[in-house]
Amino acid sequence: MSITKQTVINTYLPDQPLPGTHAEAFAPSNIALCKYWGKRDVELNLPINGSLSISLGELGSRTEITESETGADQVYLNHELQAEDNSFARKVIAFINLFRGELNQPVCVKTINNIPTAAGLASSASGFAALTLAINDFYNLGLSDDKLSAFARMGSGSASRSIYQGFVEWHKGVRDDGMDSCAERLDITWPGFRIGLLKVATGAKKVDSRSGMQRTVESADLYQSWPQQAANDLATIKRAIADRDLELLGQTAEQNALSMHATMIASWPPLLYWQPESVAAMHRVWELRALGVPVYLTMDAGPNLKLLFHSEYEAQVRNAFPELLDLDIVAPFG
Ligand code: PMV
Repeated sequence: MSITKQTVINTYLPDQPLPGTHAEAFAPSNIALCKYWGKRDVELNLPINGSLSISLGELGSRTEITESETGADQVYLNHELQAEDNSFARKVIAFINLFRGELNQPVCVKTINNIPTAAGLASSASGFAALTLAINDFYNLGLSDDKLSAFARMGSGSASRSIYQGFVEWHKGVRDDGMDSCAERLDITWPGFRIGLLKVATGAKKVDSRSGMQRTVESADLYQSWPQQAANDLATIKRAIADRDLELLGQTAEQNALSMHATMIASWPPLLYWQPESVAAMHRVWELRALGVPVYLTMDAGPNLKLLFHSEYEAQVRNAFPELLDLDIVAPFG
């Protein structure tokens, strides 16, 4: 039997929260270079493998919490009031309930995602990280970064990494209550590192990552090799980052992403997030590479690609992918 989120919060937040008046926080979105795929505990979002990501600088979520003036909880997303039974509103309020305990103070939560809608990126990582940071501030909880990361992880696994900017490693941890399953920022900057957000398809039917990874763990024999591969890839990617070795980083990240997708395809029923446009874009990346441009791809639980390259090759990448707008090319170190 898994420990519940509420038990964990009560253990590590023994005091009643103080009622708040106003708090605001920002958290970046992140792209995994070594992917998180598979949970050892579904309730607490504890991963089977460690992962490593790059945060997207100014692209992410800003969340504001104030006292509600209507006497009821209110949730806004991108300036629009959400109905009480809307799934986004329900998730936000359920998460706040974990922290506000007996206080019962109605709140107004406003979230704005500035991720270009054209980029086709999920916003649950930055959303839960920004919400956790805002909750910490609103209720004066004074949580350490480790706890902020562990608590954000209970909202969405990858949110544990969005507490930080730059390269971030999420340690899988071994504890049953998950308090050692939190992320850590790597003390490395790489000014020339670039990420291209390449949206290739819209309207694809989506199985969310929560059910996708569960299906893979339960039904794909191929998944058995994943934890060891992820551990090896994580170590290689850390070395590549330390050496600023774009080719080693790109190769390892691309192979890691495609291996994760291989486990999905080997699930039952099969899970294929790629659209024909995704495959066409993959071939364009490989053709460009064959011409001598070191550009690599990674993909998450969706049809879109993220390109990894060095600023030195930005002109060639833009030329080959004219659909990339200025906003779609992210320089995570400014
Ligand atoms: O945090 P979740 O439950 O949205 O899962 C994220 C899963 C991947 O994006 C596919 C990989 C990752 O590490 O971000």
